[in-house]
Amino acid sequence: MTRKVRHVSMAPTTLLTDDLLVLLAGKLPVILLGAPLAGLLAYILINEVVRAKARVVGLHGPRGLPLIGNLWDIRVNAAEQYRQWVSKFGAVYQIQLGNIPVVVINSSAAAKAIFGQNTQALSSRPEFYTFHKVVSNTAGTTIGTSPYSDSLKRRRKAAASALNRPSVQTYVGFLDLESRDFIKELYTYGHGGQTPVDPMPMIQRLSLSLSVTLNWGTRISSQQESLFAEITHVEEEISKFRSTTGNLQDYIPLLRLNPINTHSAKARDMRRRRDVYLTALNKGLEERIAAGTSSPCIQANVLLDEEAKLSKDELTSISLTMLSGGLDTVTTTLAWLVALLANRPDIQEKAVAEIRAHYGEDQPLCDAEDDQKCAYMVALVREMLRYFTVLRLALPRVSVKEIVYNGAVIPKGTVVFLNSWACNMGAFTFPATSSIFSQNN
Ligand code: HEM
Repeated sequence: MTRKVRHVSMAPTTLLTDDLLVLLAGKLPVILLGAPLAGLLAYILINEVVRAKARVVGLHGPRGLPLIGNLWDIRVNAAEQYRQWVSKFGAVYQIQLGNIPVVVINSSAAAKAIFGQNTQALSSRPEFYTFHKVVSNTAGTTIGTSPYSDSLKRRRKAAASALNRPSVQTYVGFLDLESRDFIKELYTYGHGGQTPVDPMPMIQRLSLSLSVTLNWGTRISSQQESLFAEITHVEEEISKFRSTTGNLQDYIPLLRLNPINTHSAKARDMRRRRDVYLTALNKGLEERIAAGTSSPCIQANVLLDEEAKLSKDELTSISLTMLSGGLDTVTTTLAWLVALLANRPDIQEKAVAEIRAHYGEDQPLCDAEDDQKCAYMVALVREMLRYFTVLRLALPRVSVKEIVYNGAVIPKGTVVFLNSWACNMGAFTFPATSSIFSQNN
């Protein structure tokens, strides 16, 4: 009886369990596969809602793919893709990198309007996982990649006083010395024009030596110095981690969980190697200051200025700024100038003729103190800065206040890219005939 009752009362449960076991036995692989798949699908769906809600209301822009947004569209040449989207979405639109909405400004007129009217609101920089959490952990960030803070104000002030016009005027001697050594190296390695030569290491030495002179008051006088190869290699690698497009894990947090994340491991290694040469350069300067043999330089000025009150980390941040600010930028601009001149003998001839109008054969290197007398050279240098846009997407900014543009409200905390590449290529601002490189000019 008890059994029967038990049987009756248990029957449905037992049947269900048995059925379930049979069912499970047959469909186990499908369920095992199906559960994560359903989870993933649910994640993608929920994420799509989050992604849609994150968009800036009132701004058009390409929607992109689930999870990754527009990362696929910009994998080859982000700045050019942004420029092409102008015809569809206008000069100012939004994209999404992963879930993160980014406002992209693509014309000089829009840049002037937005940055001109919102200087304070756009005075900060966004933080990215790879650069800010992995590369910059110990050695700090550069000025151009630091979020707004009192510390950033202090660092900007120190950098601005070292880089303003009167200060730069006092660097003319260094610029002259390094330029002469650059020409000497071209002449020596190229055997006076007889041997084809790769000018890149010479250009890199020139810009590295200038940065090191300005910041630590010491030179990198030859490519043979061990610091030359180490700093140029490490800084080049680090600039890739700073890239706004090259680090997928910045936008897709799931990728950070990868236990064999070689990207982060490499970033950490570069950080360690950078700490080594920064320490060596700082130690060298401290020894020269103690011995009374230091030359005037940014670090010595700040160290000896009682009122500046910058912490060790802030000093490091300024050093990194001077190193990375001057390396990539000056090197690539000069490299493109050399390549252009090699391909355009007509520009070389015109430049020599224009210079000769001011300086005779007896002054082949002109006067270092004069940089504005020869109008053609001034135009050539300015046009070079446009010809190859070094930082195509400038340095990203983040809004610290709401911004209104054409009726659209860009909320506080929005990342903003300035597409300098598109601005420099704007046919309205720079018609083809206006270029100094045009055959008729
Ligand atoms: C051809 C040479 C150069 C180019 C094209 C260039 C370009 C730029 C650009 C586009 C920015 C970002 C502007 C922004 O969005 O706020 C920037 C920032 C900066 N650059 Fe340069 N730069 C050059 C050379 C240098 C040199 C030689 C130094 C220092 C020795 C330097 C120091 C800085 C600093 C300190 C900032 C950060 C400013 C801030 O956040 O307050 N730059 N540069």
